[in-house]
Amino acid sequence: MTNRELIKLALEARKMAYSPYSDFSVGAALLCKDGSVYTGCNIENSAFSPTNCAERTAFFKAVSEGKREFEKIAVVGGASLEDTPSNYCPPCGVCRQVMKEFCSADFEIIIAKNPDDFKILTLSEILPLSFDKREV
Ligand code: THU
Repeated sequence: MTNRELIKLALEARKMAYSPYSDFSVGAALLCKDGSVYTGCNIENSAFSPTNCAERTAFFKAVSEGKREFEKIAVVGGASLEDTPSNYCPPCGVCRQVMKEFCSADFEIIIAKNPDDFKILTLSEILPLSFDKREV
């Protein structure tokens, strides 16, 4: 699975976003170490706080299917009106902490505008000095 392919799957997942309150659509594609891919979109709620981000949707789908080892995730997000986002969409703090639960420091987060324009970050770069009770 190339980074380009993973980004394409994230862009497909973004089409499923349910985001009538923010009009901001996000898609994610999570590559497991066994080669399987789980996608996710953001799912909003009129009460706001039940909203789930695309990244967590992908993680929770994978974990609920028994997956525990992850290689990388591609994330694309932007105004729902845009077919392809014009900016990078870095994961929110809550999603970073969920990644921390299941992923090692070198887990890769690919933030992309399209399959030809992306940046690769590691979990330790985007969540330094993180909390993990297993490490303290
Ligand atoms: N959102 C995500 O799905 N992932 C992120 O990392 C950032 C934010 C969603 C949450 C909400 O539905 C919308 O984007 C606007 O914040």
